[in-house]
Amino acid sequence: MDAETRSKTGSAADWDKLFYRPADEFFAANAGLSLTYDDVSLATRYSDVIPRDANFETSLAPGLALHLPVVSADMDTVTESRMAIALALNGGLGLIHYNMGHRQQLSEVSRVKNHVHGLIREPIKVSPDQKIGDILKLIEERKFSFSTFPVVDADDTLIGLLPGHCVRQRFAARSVPEAMIPRASVLTICEDELGDDPIAKADGFFTEHIGIHKLLVVDKADRLRGLFTLSDIERITQERSLQTKPARDAKFRLLCGAAVGATRTAAGELDREALLAHVGALVERGLDVVAVSTAHGHTAGVGEAVRTIRAAFPKLPIIAGNVTSASGVAFLAECGANTVKVGQGPGSICTTRVVAGVGIPQLTALYVCSKAAAECGVTLLADGGITKSGDIVKALTLSHAVICGSLLAGCPEAPGSIMEINGKFYKQYRGMGSHAAMKAGSAARYGHAREAAQKSAAEGVEALKEVSAPADLVLAQLAGGLQSGMGYLGAPDLATLRANARFTRITTAGLRESAPHDIIEVKATGSES
Ligand code: XMP
Repeated sequence: MDAETRSKTGSAADWDKLFYRPADEFFAANAGLSLTYDDVSLATRYSDVIPRDANFETSLAPGLALHLPVVSADMDTVTESRMAIALALNGGLGLIHYNMGHRQQLSEVSRVKNHVHGLIREPIKVSPDQKIGDILKLIEERKFSFSTFPVVDADDTLIGLLPGHCVRQRFAARSVPEAMIPRASVLTICEDELGDDPIAKADGFFTEHIGIHKLLVVDKADRLRGLFTLSDIERITQERSLQTKPARDAKFRLLCGAAVGATRTAAGELDREALLAHVGALVERGLDVVAVSTAHGHTAGVGEAVRTIRAAFPKLPIIAGNVTSASGVAFLAECGANTVKVGQGPGSICTTRVVAGVGIPQLTALYVCSKAAAECGVTLLADGGITKSGDIVKALTLSHAVICGSLLAGCPEAPGSIMEINGKFYKQYRGMGSHAAMKAGSAARYGHAREAAQKSAAEGVEALKEVSAPADLVLAQLAGGLQSGMGYLGAPDLATLRANARFTRITTAGLRESAPHDIIEVKATGSES
């Protein structure tokens, strides 16, 4: 570079510095004014990063690394085992909510930890007492698109396989044992032989055995434990090249988190015994991280809960929150949390700011918290208010992962049934501080008693989300948007994204300009799904 070019480049850089500022300068210049995602935009930086090569791996705590910095909210209309499985398969993390009994939460965690991608754990089975006519009726009633079924006895021991070509009206009066392939001729695999890569194992099996479309999995006592189908395996192997890596533990199981409250005894003290017994049982099931999840985390009760868990489980990653102040972060770090949830009132279903007059717009809250997090050696989760992938890019300039509720609540993997209203399909999405959710168990999260939930001031609303694409697709859109943002900022990884971020405030006119305008939109292509 010659001297003239260098000086031009140098002065050009000065102009950039004057108008597009790094976080410390930008937020200091706006001290006293709280900003959120739509109040700012990020400036582009010189880049040699191709978006698809941008790597957004993140580490939340020792032993808790994610390949996708997205966590699904611990809400009863967002995360149970199905959503947690979808998140982990895509490299993220699901936090199972705690608006359910302890035993149910344990079994939700077990479902995630025992999940084998592609393995149908509870296949439809038939019994040797049935007739082919019964099976035809079953297919008709339950609208099955398949007609091959494992045959098991009352103990689930495998007796044979009823092949689809025998399930015909002309054989209706015949018994299942007359038509089935007997056990000795059915090829199976023992679950212990599935190894670290069950998909590859099943794929190999189907290649080896021409014409076989189902692989039955049994345990050592020959009880049926599940089945693989050729079509699932083919779909998964085709998708594999497109997918981010699943988030797994050292034993190759999917990662799973669960939320707990800081529940009190009738005398008003933390119920230490119940808390420790439950966290212990969760850990036994293989839980990777526990989240002490409340609306106000900078409190004696949450601090005590975190300290209690930390003392009993020195190595268990702990998420705690929610806070919006640096002192809140320092407090929870001091109590033993590894990761702090930041967000009071930004959520799409939240009314905390309306009801209590409290809360901080999310980007300023994240900046202030990030200063304490860096000093205390903890990581941050940006919780709430994420409505598009661009918000994730902005959030990750000041945090280590984001928590999404509303963006995932319309997915088929979210709990709850689909309802039709005027020809459109919706799923329920409700704040954990809404009356209905507090009555179902989350009152303690907002500092109320469950019995008095109906009379307490609700801090959330009950709402609907239009049914969206499956979580795989929604997450792929979010990941793609994040990679675009990293490409624009010349960031091959999240640490560089944080270092390269340059902020500018925008006005409402700027915000209007930021989204499609002055056109008639035919089809939305953004990441809002
Ligand atoms: P999004 O915007 O992703 O936000 O829908 C999800 C986050 O919102 C928080 N949350 C609540 N906050 N009242 C609140 O003030 C509520 O009823 C409520 N329910 C959930 C929570 O942090 C979640 O992750």
